[in-house]
Formats: sequence, C-alpha cells, structure tokens
Amino acid sequence: MARFEARDITPAFGADITGFDPKAPLDDETRAQLQHLFDTRGVLRFRDIDLTHTEQVTIGRMLIRKEGLADEGDPIPEDKFYVSNRKMDSAAPFGRLQFHADTMWADRPFEVLSLYGAEIELPSAPTTFVSGVNAWKTLPDDLRLKIEGLEVLHTAGAVRRGNLDDVLVSDVIDPPTTVSKLAKVHPRTGETILYACEQMTKEVVGLPHEESEAILTEVFAHLYAPARQWNQEWHERDFVVWDNIAMQHARNNVAVEGPTRHLRKAASPMPKLRPDQLPKFSKAAA
Ligand SMILES: [Fe+2]
Repeated sequence: MARFEARDITPAFGADITGFDPKAPLDDETRAQLQHLFDTRGVLRFRDIDLTHTEQVTIGRMLIRKEGLADEGDPIPEDKFYVSNRKMDSAAPFGRLQFHADTMWADRPFEVLSLYGAEIELPSAPTTFVSGVNAWKTLPDDLRLKIEGLEVLHTAGAVRRGNLDDVLVSDVIDPPTTVSKLAKVHPRTGETILYACEQMTKEVVGLPHEESEAILTEVFAHLYAPARQWNQEWHERDFVVWDNIAMQHARNNVAVEGPTRHLRKAASPMPKLRPDQLPKFSKAAA
C-alpha cells in the first residue's frame, strides 16, 4: 500500500499529498504512484513537512525518473538557491512575475521545479499556476484550428508585453532562444500542451507582428482565464513541486520591505549557460 493519501486541488490539476514521510525509504509502489500523480496532476503539494535541500532535489528528480543521479551524473549541488525578498542575490527578490515556465527559452527546459517555504511571514504573495495541458484540452475548436502547426519563438530576453506595472523583467546580453510548436507534445507524458507564455514567448514564427500578437493575445486570454488559475497560498514548510513543461506560474508584487517570503528552490535538469546568458533582474520602466 502506498504510504500517502492524495486529494485533487482543482478539478483540472494539482494534488495535495498527506502522510508522506520524505525521510523514509521509498518503496516501489509509493514511487510509482507519486510519479503517476505528478504526470497526471502536474503539481503536487505537501504541507507542513520537514525537508532538507537534498531531499527536495531528490524528490524532484525521482518524479521525472532521474532518481539517484544529479544532472549529467554530477553530485547533487550543495548550493541552495532561493526566491526570497530577504536575499537580494536570489532569483526574483522583488516585483511581480508574469506567467512563465522557467527556462522555456532553452532547448532543454527544466522538467521539474519546486519551492519550499523555508521562512514565511503572513500574508505572503501566492504563486499562481495554470496548466498548459488543461488549456489545450479546453481550447475552443476555432482557435485550435487556427494554431495547429504554428511554431513560436521563446527568448530569455525581455518580451515586455501587456501590463508591466511592478513587473520584474530580465535583461540578458546575449539571450538564448528556442523554437517550439505552439501545440507541443510533452516529452515524458505525451500530452499536448498549449505552449506559449506572456513573459518569454516573443512571436509566432513567420507571421507579421500584428498577426502574431493577435494570435498570442487569444492564446493568453484562454490560458490565463481566471477560472483556470490556482493560487498556492504560502505557509512555512509547504513543499510544492511541479512539471515545469506542463505548468506555468506567476506571482503578484513582492516588496523588499514586505513580510518575509523566503522560498528554497530546486530545478532539474540545469541548463549549461555562459555568464552573459544569465539574466539580470530589474523593474520594468513604467
Ligand atoms: Fe519562475
């Protein structure tokens, strides 16, 4: 019998896991059931658990079937990285983040991403999720016909689209880019994903700018419809791990002087980047 219980968070995606002990040896049945839930629900949440950085990385890699190996056979990195308004050298220490999937601009984006509530003062800005798989399944037929076969360009450079109030934008000297199908097939699950995001998808390949923006505007209106969003309201010791290819995430403004929001982050596999390809964050010009 699997050593946990699961409950759907929303009808379309997400599962709350209770009764799981990250310090206990993992039996085959528990592992297989967690992997199945991850593939079918997209995001798993464990509340009020004690989790080390190594356990966080190990669970993420187990869920994408890369247990026991760190990236390219390297040992699990000791470096912890954070999304935190208490560490100015962390990822996204302040500001609002538009919907995105981390490293969507890479040929091999992160397959798994997780955050752990290391230190949280309430009220804390939630992380908002949508599912590209659910968006594809619910896409109106006319829009599906319009976008079938189209390709899109994703970039690590700033796209600067829509309302940019409070948005944290990244500037990269030589931004990496990649091209994918707008209806992308998930490499592990085989599900079709509506695969574009407001923060990183620059254009539909080969279309004039206005036509490209018109299609992306329709795509984003569907993807980000409020009824298809879910807010993770952070509490200390929450562990949220998600499929970074199937899911997108966003957050409202976080202030440096606001309540402590110190989240420990883990991602796999890590892309290899040169220093000039690393983003530098700043607030968008008004
Ligand atoms: Fe992110």
